Amino acid sequence: MSGRAGHALSLQGLSKRYGSFVAVQDASLEVGSGRFLTLLGPSGSGKTTILMMIAGFVEPSEGRVLLDGRDITAVPPERREFGMVFQGYALFPHMTVAENVAFPLRVRRLGRAERDARVRATLDLVQLDQFADRRPSQLSGGQQQRVALARALVFDPALLLLDEPLSALDKKLRAELQDELKALHRRVGRTFINVTHDQEEALSLSDEIAILNAGRLVQVGAPSALYERPATRFVAGFLGRSNFVEGEAERDAGGIVLRRGGTRVLGVGEAPPGPALLSLRPEKITVLAEGEGEENVVEGRIAAWSYLGAGYAITVATADLGELKVHLPAWRIPLVPAEGMPVRLGWPRGAAVAVAEDPA
Ligand SMILES: Nc1ncnc2c1ncn2[C@@H]1O[C@H](COP(=O)(O)OP(=O)(O)O)[C@@H](O)[C@H]1O
Ligand SMILES: [Mg+2]
Repeated sequence: MSGRAGHALSLQGLSKRYGSFVAVQDASLEVGSGRFLTLLGPSGSGKTTILMMIAGFVEPSEGRVLLDGRDITAVPPERREFGMVFQGYALFPHMTVAENVAFPLRVRRLGRAERDARVRATLDLVQLDQFADRRPSQLSGGQQQRVALARALVFDPALLLLDEPLSALDKKLRAELQDELKALHRRVGRTFINVTHDQEEALSLSDEIAILNAGRLVQVGAPSALYERPATRFVAGFLGRSNFVEGEAERDAGGIVLRRGGTRVLGVGEAPPGPALLSLRPEKITVLAEGEGEENVVEGRIAAWSYLGAGYAITVATADLGELKVHLPAWRIPLVPAEGMPVRLGWPRGAAVAVAEDPA
C-alpha cells in the first residue's frame, strides 16, 4: 500500500426512484478521509442502493456524489477506482488465490514485477501469503472473503465499498472477520464504507454509523453517540433494545420531566411541552437494594425473568409505566428473582432520553 491518505466522500441530496417507488430519499452524508462508515438499516431500507450510487452502478434520480470535493456523479464505475466486496461477488474459481488478487492489476496493465510485488504485499496484509497457489474451493469461507478483500485492495483504491461481506458466515467466523476487518482498516488507513443490517457489527467496527429506515437517513454519528442519544424511536429500537415511556412532557432545568399517571420521570434531551416519548435502555435500569435511592425510582412486580448466565433479563410490571425490561449483570442483582416479587427500580436521569416519533 502506498502512503497516500484516504479520500473524503460526500453525498448531497441523493435520491433514487423506481417508477413511483422511492428507494432512497434525499440522503446527504459526509465521510471524512480514512474513516470507517457503516450504513445500517433493516432489509429493504436502501443500503445497497446508496452503495451502488456511490460505486456508480446505479444512477441517482437526484443529487450528487463528490470525492474530495469533485463531482463524480457522471463518472462511470470503472473509472472511479473503488474497491468492492459485495455479497455474491464471487472469486474466479479457475484461478489461484494469487491470480484472483492479480486480476485488477492485469486489467490495469501493470508490469509483471510490480504486479507480483503488490499481490505478495496484499496477501501478506490479509495474512494469506501461505495460500497464494490454492484455488478458492480449497479455502474456508472466511479465507475466501479475505481473498475478496485482497482483490479489492490490491490496486490501492480511493474507497473500499463493502456490502454485507460477512453475512454469509457463521457467527464465530463473522466475529473473527470483524476483528480482522477493523485491523485491516487501521493498517491501510483508507476510507471504508460498509453496509450491514447487523447492529453489533456496526457498533464494533465503525467510526460513524448512518442509520437508514425506509429509504431515509434517520441519524448519523459515532456509535456511542447514536446509542446514548438516539434521535427517534426507530433508532433507539434498532440500535440495541429499549423501553419506551409515553407521557406528557414539561421542561425543567435538567432536561424534560415526563408525567404519566401519578409518576414523573426525569429525563434528558429536548421535547416541546405536550405528548412525548422517552427511550430507556434495559441495562441502565437497576433493581434497588433496600434503602438505596436513585434520581428515578419506580415500584413494580416481577412479571417474568430469565437467567442468561452473565446476568438476568427481568420484566417488571409497573402501575403507571407499563412493563419495563431490565437487564442486570448477575453481580448487581440484590435478590433472587421470582415471579410476583415486589421490586423497586431505579435509573439516573441521563438514562431516560427524549426521542421523536419517526415520520410516517
Ligand atoms: N432495480 C430495482 N427496481 C425496483 N426496485 C428496486 C430495485 N433495486 C432496489 N429496489 C427496491 O428498493 C428498496 C431498497 O433496496 P436495497 O437498497 O437493496 O435495500 P437493502 O440493501 O437495504 O436491503 C427495496 O424495496 C427494493 O426492493
Ligand atoms: Mg442490500
